[in-house]
Amino acid sequence: MCGIVAYIGPKDATPFLLEGLARLEYRGYDSAGVAVTGRTGGIKVRKVKGRVADLAAAVPARFKGATGIGHTRWATHGVPSDANAHPHLDNAERIAVVHNGIIENADELRAKLAADGAVFRSETDTEVLGHLIAAHAAEGVELEEAVRAALGKVVGTYGIAVLDAEQPDRIVVARNGSPIVLGIGEKEMFVASDVSALVRYTRQVVHLEDGELATVRADGFRTFTEDARTTHRQPSTVDWEIDSYDTGGYEHFLLKEIHEQPGSVERTLGGRLDERFATAHLGGLNLDARELREIRRVKILGCGSAYYAGEMGAQLIEELARIPAHSEPASEFRYRNPVIEADTLYIAVSQSGETYDTLAAVQEVKRKGGRVLGVVNTVGSAIARECDGGIYLHAGPEISVASTKAFTSTVVAFALIALHFGRIHDLSPADGRRIVSALKALPDQIREVLAQSDAIAELAAEYAGSEGMMFIGRVRGYPVAREGAQKLKEISYVHAEAYPASELKHGPLALISPELPTVALVPDDELLDKNLTTLGEIKARSGRVLAVAHRRPETKLADHCILVPKSEPELDPLLLNIPLQLLAYHAAVALGRDVDKPRNLAKSVTVE
Ligand code: F6R
Repeated sequence: MCGIVAYIGPKDATPFLLEGLARLEYRGYDSAGVAVTGRTGGIKVRKVKGRVADLAAAVPARFKGATGIGHTRWATHGVPSDANAHPHLDNAERIAVVHNGIIENADELRAKLAADGAVFRSETDTEVLGHLIAAHAAEGVELEEAVRAALGKVVGTYGIAVLDAEQPDRIVVARNGSPIVLGIGEKEMFVASDVSALVRYTRQVVHLEDGELATVRADGFRTFTEDARTTHRQPSTVDWEIDSYDTGGYEHFLLKEIHEQPGSVERTLGGRLDERFATAHLGGLNLDARELREIRRVKILGCGSAYYAGEMGAQLIEELARIPAHSEPASEFRYRNPVIEADTLYIAVSQSGETYDTLAAVQEVKRKGGRVLGVVNTVGSAIARECDGGIYLHAGPEISVASTKAFTSTVVAFALIALHFGRIHDLSPADGRRIVSALKALPDQIREVLAQSDAIAELAAEYAGSEGMMFIGRVRGYPVAREGAQKLKEISYVHAEAYPASELKHGPLALISPELPTVALVPDDELLDKNLTTLGEIKARSGRVLAVAHRRPETKLADHCILVPKSEPELDPLLLNIPLQLLAYHAAVALGRDVDKPRNLAKSVTVE
C-alpha cells in the first residue's frame, strides 16, 4: 500500500526513481510523484494524479538531481489528485516527504502547525510531516535530528523518506509499521518499500526494523533508534530472480503467476518431504514432537485470500492430524479481545508478510503469551520476523494484486504442516505415504489444468456478461468456492457470492435464475451424490451450471464442465481452485479490466 523509492549517488536520481516506482506500482496506483534536490539548490517536484507512466510523461528532461525521493499512492486521506500526491513540502519548500502509512493524530498536528503559520496545500495526513520536520529543522540541526524530533510527536504508522534542500548529501528514512529497505550499491544507495524496486541495482539489502531510522548517504548508511541509539545492521542478500519481476512474455503478471504454479509448488515442497517416515520436515517450526503433542487446537489468522487459504489449511489439519483447527480473518480477530489459550497454536498467513491487520493479530497473540507460527512468502518481512517460527513458501515474488501462486503454495505449506502434525499424532504410515505421493504429483497435475487455459477462456467469455455468479462447494469445496468468488469479483468486478452447497436451499436458492449462473465444485469424493442433488435443484430452477469436477456430470445437471485431475480427497481443493483462477483471469480480460491493478485495490495492505 503506497510505494516509496529514494536514490543518492553520483548519477541522476530520476531514472531510478521512475523505474523503481513502476516496479512498486502494484502497491498503489492512483497518483505518483518525485522530488530531487537540484544541482543549483532547492527541491524540484513533479506529481500527478494517475499512473507512474503519466508521471514519467510529465517529468521534463531537465528534471535531474543526485538525491531524490518518489512515491506511488493508494489514497487513505483525500481523493487521488495532483495536490494530494506525494511528495509533500513545507512552506519554504526546504523539506520534501514521501510516506506510506497513516498518521493517526494528523488533525491535531495540522491544527497546531496551522496556528504557527503552516499553509496546507493538500488533504493528506502526510503533509503534516513536511511542516513538522521543517519546524524542527532550525539552523545547524542535522536532518536526522529534525526527523527524530518530529516523529516523537507522531502517532501512527509510517515508512518515510525525507529530503532536505539544505542537506542534499543525505536522505533520512524511518520505519514504523510500513516497510523500508535500503539497497547498498557501489558509492550509491537506494531505498524502496520492497526489494522488487532494487534487484536490478543491488542484491545487498537491509530491512529496517520498526522504530528504526537511517541516514543514507552515497557512501553508506547509519541506522539508529527513535531515542538516538546507534543500531548495527548487517546486509542480507536477496535471492529472488530478476526475471520474477517481469511479465516474461505473458500478457499480464497474473497469467504468468498462474502458470508459474507447478514450479512454485515444487519450491514449497523442496526438501521437505520425508519418504522414509512418510512425513514432512519442517525445522523452522521450532516445535519438537513433545511440544506438538501438547497442542489441543490450531487457530489460523490471515486476511482475504490468505484467510481462505487458512480455511483450507484448517480442514487439512483437522483431517490429517485430528486437531481441531479454525481460520479467522486477522482483521476481526485483533479487534475482539480474543481469548488466547496456552494449548492453542496460532498460525499467521501472509504472502507479503506486511499486512497490517495480520501483523497486529500476531502482536496481540504474543502480547498475551501465545505462540505464533508464520506461513509467509516474503523472507525477512515484518510478520515473518514477529513470529516464533514458521514456514517460508518460496513461491517467488507475487506482483499481480490478486494472489494466485502464493495462495496455492500456502495450501501446500498447510498440507506439509498437517502431514507433520498428523504423523506425530495418529496418521498411519500408509496414510502418510498416500499424502506424500499425492503432494509429489501436484506440479504435473497443475500443468494438466493449465493446459486447459484456452478452453477456460472460452467459457469465461460466455459467463463474463452475467449479472453475477454463485460459487458453491461442500465442506472441503466451500473454501474453494470462497476463493473462486473472491478472485472473480476482485479482478473482473462481476458480483460473486460463495455459499456452502448445503446452505443453498436455506435462502440463496431464491437468487438462482438464468442470469445468475453457478460455478459448482463437484469433487469425486464421499459427498459426490449430495453435490449432484444440489445441481439438480439448481437446474430445476432454470439455473445455468458450470461444474468443476473429476467426472463430467450428466448434461441435465451441468451446462459446462471443467475436468480436473484427481488427487487424494484432502488435497483435491488445491487442484479444484486452479481453473477458478483461470476463469477469473479470462473473465477480467474479456471485460477489458486492468487485470494486474484492479480498481480501488493495492497489494500489501499496510494500513488498518
Ligand atoms: C486477494 C488478495 C488479498 C490478500 C490479502 C492478504 O487476491 O490478494 O485478499 O490475500 O490482502 O495479503 P497478504 O497475504 O499479503 O497478507
